[in-house]
Amino acid sequence: MVQELMDKIVALSKRRGFIFPSSEIYGGLGGFWDFGPLGLLIKNEIKKLWWRAMVEENDNIFGLDSAVVLNPLVWQASGHTGSGFADPLRECKECHHRFRGDDLKTNVCPDCGGELTEEKKFNILVKTFIGAVEDKSTLAYLRGETCQGIFINFLNVLNTMRPKLPFGIAQIGKVFRNEITPGNFIFRSREFEQMELEFFIHPQEEEKWFAYWLEKRFRWHLALGLNKEKLRFYEHPKAKLAHYSKKTVDIEYEFPFGWGELEGIANRTDFDLKNHSRYAKENLFYKDQKGQVIKPYVIEPSVGTERLLLTLLLDAYHEDAKRTYLSFSPAVAPYKIAVFPLLANKRTLVNLAKKIYKELKKDFSVAWDDRGNIGKRYYAQDEIGTPWCVTVDFQTLEDQTVTVRERDTTKQERIKISQLKNYFQKKIGRST
Ligand code: GAP
Repeated sequence: MVQELMDKIVALSKRRGFIFPSSEIYGGLGGFWDFGPLGLLIKNEIKKLWWRAMVEENDNIFGLDSAVVLNPLVWQASGHTGSGFADPLRECKECHHRFRGDDLKTNVCPDCGGELTEEKKFNILVKTFIGAVEDKSTLAYLRGETCQGIFINFLNVLNTMRPKLPFGIAQIGKVFRNEITPGNFIFRSREFEQMELEFFIHPQEEEKWFAYWLEKRFRWHLALGLNKEKLRFYEHPKAKLAHYSKKTVDIEYEFPFGWGELEGIANRTDFDLKNHSRYAKENLFYKDQKGQVIKPYVIEPSVGTERLLLTLLLDAYHEDAKRTYLSFSPAVAPYKIAVFPLLANKRTLVNLAKKIYKELKKDFSVAWDDRGNIGKRYYAQDEIGTPWCVTVDFQTLEDQTVTVRERDTTKQERIKISQLKNYFQKKIGRST
C-alpha cells in the first residue's frame, strides 16, 4: 500500500512532466534525474520561497553563489576527504552488487545469497581532474555540500558587507555525492540541490539561535502546506553526529518508506572556520567594535530542493472515486490558474478566453487548455495541482463574468473578468 503511493508518484511525475529518469533513452544512470517543465516550475517556486524567507526578509543575511569545484584543500580542511564523508560499503563476492553496511544485518547478499566482503569505508566525494593531465596533482572534487563555498568566502563577505554578529550567508546550488545506494526515487540522488544558510553567532548564544532556526524552519515547512501530523523533530544521538556537528536536529517527514530527514539543523560550532584558518593560514575570525576577536559559531539549516519537491508531491497526493488531484499550496503549484474556453470551436469564446489568459499571465503562472471536454480539462489540471480553473462560457459574453472552479472542493463561483486579478492576488497572498 505505502510503496503503491511512491509508485503512483513516480508514474504521475513521468506522465505529467514533473520528473524523468536521466539519460533515459540510453538506459538511465542510477541516482540522476531530469526535471521536466512542471518539476522545474515547482523547484523554482521552492527556491524563490526559501530565498525570500532566508535572505530577502532578513537585513543581516547575504547571498552567495560560489564555484562547484573548489581547491581540493577545502575538502581536506572540512574533513570530507577523510572518513567523515565516507559510507560503510560491503560488496557481494558473487554478483558484485554493493550495499551500505549500515543497511544490512547479515553476511549474505540480499540479491543472490552470495558471501559479502568485510565493511570498508567508501568516500562519497565525486572526483574530477582539472587540467590537461589526469594524476594526483590535478585531482579535484565536485562539491559535496554548498556550505564550504560559504566558509571560504567568510572574509570576503565580512570585508565587503561589514555585517555585525549575528549574520548569515546563504547559498542555493548543486551538490554531488557518489551515494552507494541512491534510491527512493529522488529522495537520495547523486546530484541534487541544497539550500543552506550558515548563520554566524557569538558562541555564548548557540542555544538561543539553534532554537530560533529550528522553530523558524519548521514553521516554513508548515507554511508550504505540509501536513503537521507528518512532520516531527529528531535529534541525532551524540555517537551518530556528523564529524563537524555538536548537535543536529532533523525535521523529519513520514515518507511511504518510513520517517526520514527532510531538513537538518546543525550546530557546527567553529569547526569549519577554525580548520580553514589552519589549512589556509588566514584568520577567519570576527572582530567586534572593541577590537575583541570572536571565533563565531555556526548554526546551519540545510535542506535539499528535490527532497522537498518529493515531500510536497507525496503530501499533496489525493485520490477519490472520480479523480486524482495534487492539493499543492498555490505558492508552490506549477500553474496557479488554468484558463479554458467552454468550447474550442466557438471563436468568440476562444478569443475572449485568450485575452483573459494573456492578461493573467502578466502576473501569474497560467496554463491554457482547449483540448477535450471541460470535465477532462478539470481532471487534467487537478492531476498537476492547478488550484483554480477559469472557464469562459456563453454567459461570459453577456455579463462579463467567468466560472472559477476551486481544485480541492470543486466548488464554482462566478467572478467578473475585471476582478480576476484582484481575486487571485488575494487568494495567493493568503496561501503562504
Ligand atoms: N551541509 C550539511 C549537509 O550537507 P546533509 O544532512 O548531508 O547535511 C542536508 O544534507 C540536506 O540535503 C538533507 O537534509 C537533505 O534534504 C539533502 N540531501 C542530503 N543528501 C541527499 C541526497 N543524496 N539526495 C537528495 N537530497 C539530499
